[in-house]
Amino acid sequence: MKFIENIKLKNKNCKVYKINSSVVYIFKKLHLEILKNTPLSFDCAYEYSRFKEDIKNKKEDIKNKKDYIFLMYYRNKPVAFSFMSVAKFDKFNLLYIKRYKLTKKQLPFLYDLNGVGVLEKFRGLGIQDYFIKLRIDYAKKLGQKYFFVSINPKNMWSLKNAKKNDFRETEKYINYEGNKRVFLRKDVL
Ligand SMILES: CC(C)(COP(=O)(O)OP(=O)(O)OC[C@H]1O[C@@H](n2cnc3c(N)ncnc32)[C@H](O)[C@@H]1OP(=O)(O)O)[C@@H](O)C(=O)NCCC(=O)NCCS
Repeated sequence: MKFIENIKLKNKNCKVYKINSSVVYIFKKLHLEILKNTPLSFDCAYEYSRFKEDIKNKKEDIKNKKDYIFLMYYRNKPVAFSFMSVAKFDKFNLLYIKRYKLTKKQLPFLYDLNGVGVLEKFRGLGIQDYFIKLRIDYAKKLGQKYFFVSINPKNMWSLKNAKKNDFRETEKYINYEGNKRVFLRKDVL
């Protein structure tokens, strides 16, 4: 794991790491723990079997620099995760790509910032807000310019955080699997 920084959130001193492919299991375990009390439609935009497949592929995707996973630790325990992925150009993401109205040349610069989970006891400390900023800063150094998130309209905290970080709501829509979503984008040029 690569140490990124120490960060103080409210009164808690935390450590932030970027994980490599050999420790993806730490993220998977934390993700399952957070899911126990999270509506599936908050955690994921689309059909759950497809999401599970995505999680299964994370090891390969990290190796290929298509996915980056960050973990927040408090007292040597992982308490929150966050990931960002290069937008995949499959039939599902085509919808996003059309929505984004990018040219073909711009497509490799599109990042999906979906994917944050915080253990219940650690919510409200500003971890999601921190992770939005961290990922954009990290991605900017990689040359990325375009970011999107798609959020369940009932997920008020995520919506609030995205807007606070200058994501612009471009539309409300029903996705491939019939779930209501809000699409937001941010350009860092
Ligand atoms: C949505 C989620 C990631 C938010 O994470 P978080 O680290 O608690 O969010 P933040 O602390 O940055 O809070 C955002 C805002 O909501 C408030 N808030 C968030 N959780 C809160 C809680 N449990 N109680 C009170 N206020 C809360 C914060 O005070 C903050 O408001 P502010 O900007 O006025 O200070 C977290 O609730 C979670 O893990 N949910 C389950 C998984 C999920 O929905 N993931 C999102 C996918 S898009």
